[in-house]
Amino acid sequence: MSKLRNKLKNYIRNNDQIVCITCYDAAFAKILNDLNVDIVLVGDSLGMVIKGEHNTHNVNMSDILYHVDCVSKYKKNFILMADMPINSFENQEKAVINAKKMLDKEVDIIKIEYQDAHKNIIEKLIFENIPVCGHLGLQPQYVIEKKDMRTYGKDSIEKRKILDQVRTLEEVGVDLILLECVDESLSKFITETTSTPIIGIGSGENCNGQVQVIYDLIGISQKPPKFAKNYLAEKNNIQLAIKSFYNYVKAIDCKKK
Ligand code: KIV
Repeated sequence: MSKLRNKLKNYIRNNDQIVCITCYDAAFAKILNDLNVDIVLVGDSLGMVIKGEHNTHNVNMSDILYHVDCVSKYKKNFILMADMPINSFENQEKAVINAKKMLDKEVDIIKIEYQDAHKNIIEKLIFENIPVCGHLGLQPQYVIEKKDMRTYGKDSIEKRKILDQVRTLEEVGVDLILLECVDESLSKFITETTSTPIIGIGSGENCNGQVQVIYDLIGISQKPPKFAKNYLAEKNNIQLAIKSFYNYVKAIDCKKK
């Protein structure tokens, strides 16, 4: 078992919730490192929070690599995850070339918004020893209309689809699965019935960890999602605000059955 996989599985073995926070620059990376945040994500949410766009659709590899460079300056304790942006993994060859560019910059695991057509791409990445996190549920790279910004997996057809995708991701051997805006009872069922660690955002507390966009946590995002809480409003200090989110996640009691 790889060191990363073992480390991630240890969170489950120790009933230790995973705290994952997005980050795009060195100053916040230092704060997150010093607070012992488990996973730092250079997410393509940078399209909105850094570039001021409406979605993630214009984020490219150069953007991600630039921000990975900034964040990795203070990488000491955390696992560094980065998004494969839109149009960076259309085929196996392109996916491997781009993912390796990330790994060369100290990224530990790449995240992909997984669609059924990507199975052979994920297989190839794993064959090349590139750790993968599969992102399911709300997938911002595929959001076209406002109505796509919703909870996924409420009806039986969508529930089945997400469950099948989780099973496929487990089978091909991803190290982590991220559920974004997935129906709470479904994310609970998924967490209880998979051995891969599950982290969630807007998917309820019954996951093995929680993800948040850093600017949502400190209340400076232009359009924070409904489930986001501004921790800075209570704490008046950025480090304490992030620590407060960290403590909240660590206190969640969610055991795998
Ligand atoms: O890009 C991002 O920040 C993300 C999180 C919202 C999960 O994918």
